[in-house]
Amino acid sequence: MIFTVAIDGPAAAGKGTISRAVAQQFGLRHLDTGLLYRAVGARVANGDDPVAAAEGLTPEDLARGDLRSLAAGEAASRVAVMPDVRAALVDFQRRFARAEGGAVLDGRDIGTVICPEAEVKLFVTASPEVRAQRRWLEVGGDKDEVLAQVIERDRRDAERATAPMVAAPDALLLDPTEMGISTAVEPAARAIREAFGQGRA
Ligand code: C5P
Repeated sequence: MIFTVAIDGPAAAGKGTISRAVAQQFGLRHLDTGLLYRAVGARVANGDDPVAAAEGLTPEDLARGDLRSLAAGEAASRVAVMPDVRAALVDFQRRFARAEGGAVLDGRDIGTVICPEAEVKLFVTASPEVRAQRRWLEVGGDKDEVLAQVIERDRRDAERATAPMVAAPDALLLDPTEMGISTAVEPAARAIREAFGQGRA
């Protein structure tokens, strides 16, 4: 079975929680593609060339303990504007998306660039304030600074020339602000069940 669930959207919207929940529910593998960019950003911060870092990513790079920090997110979005860095990461993501057994990938460009043929596409979003609050609860620090960084990262991700963050025209839009992230898993799961039912798997 080849079956891809593409889950895109801005930082801290709830993509990760929804992705992990549906991957577990439907027995699909899951790839958090933001980690790839975070790991490249971390290597660049240590002096590596961005493209060489993207081409040479190792499992150890992805297992670093500091990839969830605000600084790592910031570094990730800076390398993510570079077309050659993105190009170096495409094959790995495509192979993961279309490998036998089915997969959930979350990121910014999964439904538009990495896997436009995905059987299910979701775009998860929420206001910058709600997302900043969520991020602040995770990482602490100055609340206003966290909000400013969320807004700046959104702008950089949405305005870059290559693979900007945008909802695919056929994506289902989910805003978990009102319902809570765990409740938002249900419409996501329903969309997947429907695609399975239509024999798209
Ligand atoms: O999702 P996460 O916050 O971990 O992503 C970190 C950064 O990596 C994003 O702000 C974005 O610049 C970049 N990214 C991307 N394309 C993806 C996933 C992440 O450009 N598919």
